Amino acid sequence: MNKKRFPLPKVYGLLEPGPVLLLTTAHRGACDVMPMSWHSLLGFDPPLVSCVVSAGNESQKLLKASGQCVLNIPTVELARQVVGCGNCHASQGDKFERFHLQHSPASQVAAPLLDDCYASLECQVVDTRMVRRYELFVLEVVAAWVDPGVKNPRTLHHRGYGRFMVAGDTIRQPSKMR
Ligand SMILES: Cc1cc2nc3c(=O)[nH]c(=O)nc-3n(C[C@H](O)[C@H](O)[C@H](O)COP(=O)(O)O)c2cc1C
Repeated sequence: MNKKRFPLPKVYGLLEPGPVLLLTTAHRGACDVMPMSWHSLLGFDPPLVSCVVSAGNESQKLLKASGQCVLNIPTVELARQVVGCGNCHASQGDKFERFHLQHSPASQVAAPLLDDCYASLECQVVDTRMVRRYELFVLEVVAAWVDPGVKNPRTLHHRGYGRFMVAGDTIRQPSKMR
């Protein structure tokens, strides 16, 4: 794995453009991965993220049981695996093996970091009050890992029905944000 620790107050910049994520979960020997595009930032520092994980997905069981997950950020090179993981369930076989997803242990949660994703955010579930109504979990990012060699990550942005927009060039403008 080439990722190095990344400052938590800067995590918002990784998520603000709304990339498709690969959510990994683990509990008592079971492990799962699913693409997730319904997420949104709720806070800077600590970084808070809300996400919808449907009850029809086996990942929701592991997320509820463990109270933890990792949000991995894939780039266009992983498009085939992203869609593949979204078209099957963990009960149909080990997705990590089937889609050749190499992984490494996280520092603070049981769910693994996906090596081929350029960034991985270890998260704790901090609020489940909206799960019953909206299937919405609030997560706090407790550790973040980013590959410093990836300067212009070409992330995937779901446009619906198997269509994705791929992030393009990065441009700079004057900013007062510190
Ligand atoms: C691009 C993409 C985005 C998705 N976003 C979400 C999402 O935000 N929330 C969700 O519950 N399911 C989402 N899904 C569907 C799940 O990934 C899919 O149901 C998956 O098979 C669940 O796997 P599991 O049962 O092993 O957890 C998405 C699928 C794709 C392909």
